[in-house]
Amino acid sequence: MLVSAREMTAAARAGHYAIGAFNLNNLEWTKSVLKAAQEMQAPVIVQCSEGAGKYMAGYKTVADMVNDVIASQGITVPVALHLDHGSYEGCLKCIDAGFSSIMFDGSHFPIDENIEKTKELVAKAHEHGMSIEAEVGGIGGEEDGVVSQGECADPDECKLIADLGVDFLACGIGNIHGKYPANWAGLRFDVLEAIKAKVGDMPLVLHGGSGIPTEMIQKAISLGVSKVNVNTECQIAFAEATRKYIEAGKDLEGKGFDPRKLLAPGAAAIVDCVKEKIEIFGSAGKA
Ligand code: 13P
Repeated sequence: MLVSAREMTAAARAGHYAIGAFNLNNLEWTKSVLKAAQEMQAPVIVQCSEGAGKYMAGYKTVADMVNDVIASQGITVPVALHLDHGSYEGCLKCIDAGFSSIMFDGSHFPIDENIEKTKELVAKAHEHGMSIEAEVGGIGGEEDGVVSQGECADPDECKLIADLGVDFLACGIGNIHGKYPANWAGLRFDVLEAIKAKVGDMPLVLHGGSGIPTEMIQKAISLGVSKVNVNTECQIAFAEATRKYIEAGKDLEGKGFDPRKLLAPGAAAIVDCVKEKIEIFGSAGKA
């Protein structure tokens, strides 16, 4: 059964570790992420962007798939199914589709509009026992066609949004979706500290978790980050393993073209990637 991400992120906040939130792309991803979490005995958030939701034939399909994999694979660790960077309408759809958590990304709206819409969705999510994430400031780079310059969040605005009763808050601190450029200046710990000083114990979310050096991730966790989002690194791991299989000509040997064989190395690479992240985030054994 899916659970809200409220308790797991609050426990992570209190215990100074972070929950891994891994984006889903298909059935292989779903099986691999849940297998890794189960083997590590880690509570986990599986999330899907609006684009990935469309790709997977709609939110209801995603919710059914995640629920069915949990049941059929004997997954017993707490699992939350979360909408990543949702629009207002997307959030309403995921409430209906049986997700257990939503993110409303109103960061591109003027702050008053972000506040107003976030407030409405906090009420709706909590009515359904779901957790809700909101965002202040921009996460740089491109996620599913949404491009942002990545401006750091204003700590006072973070406080205004946190006070609406959101369960965890994403704030731009120099983090970027996708690959980090060679000249990336790193996370702005000064901004993170200023935000934490305003919002107190509110669990914070670090988007763009792929490619951030381990020490930086762990420092961010020590300063209040309780959920770390990872997408690109799993995609790269999957693509690299699949490329290796094909370049070695394995698809041409016997029945190596069978998708169950062709996709197996990539699926195994996702399991390894997720396990490594769970270890770094400190959530292993916290289920
Ligand atoms: P990465 O793809 O950079 O890991 O970012 C994932 C993310 O933040 C999803 O919201």
